[in-house]
Amino acid sequence: MASQHPIYDHIQRDAHGRTPKAAGSDPDDLIPPPQASVAPGKLAYSDQTRPSAKPIAKRRGWFRGLQRMLMFKQAQETDPAPPQAALKDLSVKDEGSAKHLERLVAVAQRRWLRQEMAGRLSARAGEAPQGKFVDVLTATPGEPKLPDEAFARLRWGGVFLYVGTNEQRVGDLAQAYDGQRGFILEEPVTQIHANVYGLRIPGFTPQGYAFLARKTQLIQPGDFTERFTYHVELSRCPKSDLAPDGYVVTKRVPTYADLVRRLRHKFPDAELSALERRAHKLIEHVFPTFLTREAAMLGIMQKNLAPEYRDKVPKPLGIQKDSRGFVRTLHMKWMRIGGEPISQLDFAIQSAELLAAIHEQASIMHLDLRMDNMVITPKGVGFVDFGSACKIGEQVNQSPMLGELFTEMMRTSQIQRMLGKMIERGHVTNNAISEVYGKTDKTVDSFYLAVQIAKPHANPDLKQLIEYDKESDVAGMLSALTAAVLRPKNPEMAQYKSASDLVRGLRRIEQRVAKAAAKRSS
Ligand SMILES: Nc1ncnc2c1ncn2[C@@H]1O[C@H](COP(=O)(O)OP(=O)(O)O)[C@@H](O)[C@H]1O
Ligand SMILES: [Mg+2]
Repeated sequence: MASQHPIYDHIQRDAHGRTPKAAGSDPDDLIPPPQASVAPGKLAYSDQTRPSAKPIAKRRGWFRGLQRMLMFKQAQETDPAPPQAALKDLSVKDEGSAKHLERLVAVAQRRWLRQEMAGRLSARAGEAPQGKFVDVLTATPGEPKLPDEAFARLRWGGVFLYVGTNEQRVGDLAQAYDGQRGFILEEPVTQIHANVYGLRIPGFTPQGYAFLARKTQLIQPGDFTERFTYHVELSRCPKSDLAPDGYVVTKRVPTYADLVRRLRHKFPDAELSALERRAHKLIEHVFPTFLTREAAMLGIMQKNLAPEYRDKVPKPLGIQKDSRGFVRTLHMKWMRIGGEPISQLDFAIQSAELLAAIHEQASIMHLDLRMDNMVITPKGVGFVDFGSACKIGEQVNQSPMLGELFTEMMRTSQIQRMLGKMIERGHVTNNAISEVYGKTDKTVDSFYLAVQIAKPHANPDLKQLIEYDKESDVAGMLSALTAAVLRPKNPEMAQYKSASDLVRGLRRIEQRVAKAAAKRSS
């Protein structure tokens, strides 16, 4: 059975009765120690900083806090059915005139979203979706407001602002967002007033209630995706240069229960006991091993990359290890998607330059350079997910467990499978590329990047940030470059092999485009 993430395939072998070697190795033997630039624990934040759905005054003491925390934990573990149905009647039009509501919306936006809205995409929940994910979605009683509706329209990390006049209803809705359905409540239900000339006149000044929720999960609880493997979410922290929005990305080994559920979904015919054995192996050995390696790779890149590339890969901000020393939780800088769209050519150049820097300056190969693992921030293209990465020249076979994991990963990764198929069908004839099939080699990265830049819309999250017109001259030139990489005239003496070769080819296209533009304007 084909699976998206290489890690699963390794486990598949267990079900066929072969027991992978025990992973008792000391993690420090597997990789150089992580160089977190902020020592773990220095970031004083809790992953579960969640304001209450009720106004602050209604919260009572530490006992309730503890109770809430336990309830939250339970909720996480059991994924209760969302109270969506019960909320339907909230769509009944709230009292409060439309004009008053709009004034209250403006007050709430000014109070909470000034920074959030600057340079980002905002929309009203009542407007027809434009097919774009937005960063700020605002709703009032007459508009769609349920968590699932907001989730579908918001980017990861985007916020939902709700403003109404009925305290009870606003409170009920806030509760549906509170740590559930992929959101956390960032600002609890708060009374707001639309003062007139700075004055609040009782009985006259419009007043209402608002709350703010942020989409912190990549997928909704209970949903399944082939795109991601780990549990990755946004966690709150104090605002700082490293966390300008007050959030960091937390990547952790998924829970056992979650993983069993996912495996059951993926392999419905497998025996439960076999799935449980697989889940155990993944949770205890495979995931922690790769997360430990990822933390180390991020540390190496912060140390060795030239400054202009350092913020194009995640900066590690803290780790939590288990008693054996394996990383189980990794906090890193949030490279928030956004900014103005870039051209297909800029996307290609920036990606290739970043890849060349990672290969040449940090001596690291990514090995899983799918579009899902690329981001576009206002500073340009970045790469995330160094979970499969390897040091160039690293002898993974020196550790039997690691050797086995990498062999399996190279045999089954999505990129490798694609490469295999393309070689088989004659779509790849470049010897330098076909000889790395099944291997951990940096040419795998340049191969895949060459494929991606010709079809840059594979990731729905990036679609609106890359200007791509299939029919354009530039798209044609980029496709021709990709073809020259994959099927050179002389397969023995291919012109393109490394990421730097790709950069050179792209720069030539850039010059041609500039010349053509100059000619047109003269
Ligand atoms: N530091 C980061 N900044 C921004 N987005 C990130 C960051 N790390 C992960 N992501 C997002 O989370 C997704 C899943 O994280 P990733 O590290 O790729 O986990 P997995 O190994 O499960 O694929 C990525 O595809 C990306 O969209
Ligand atoms: Mg990924």
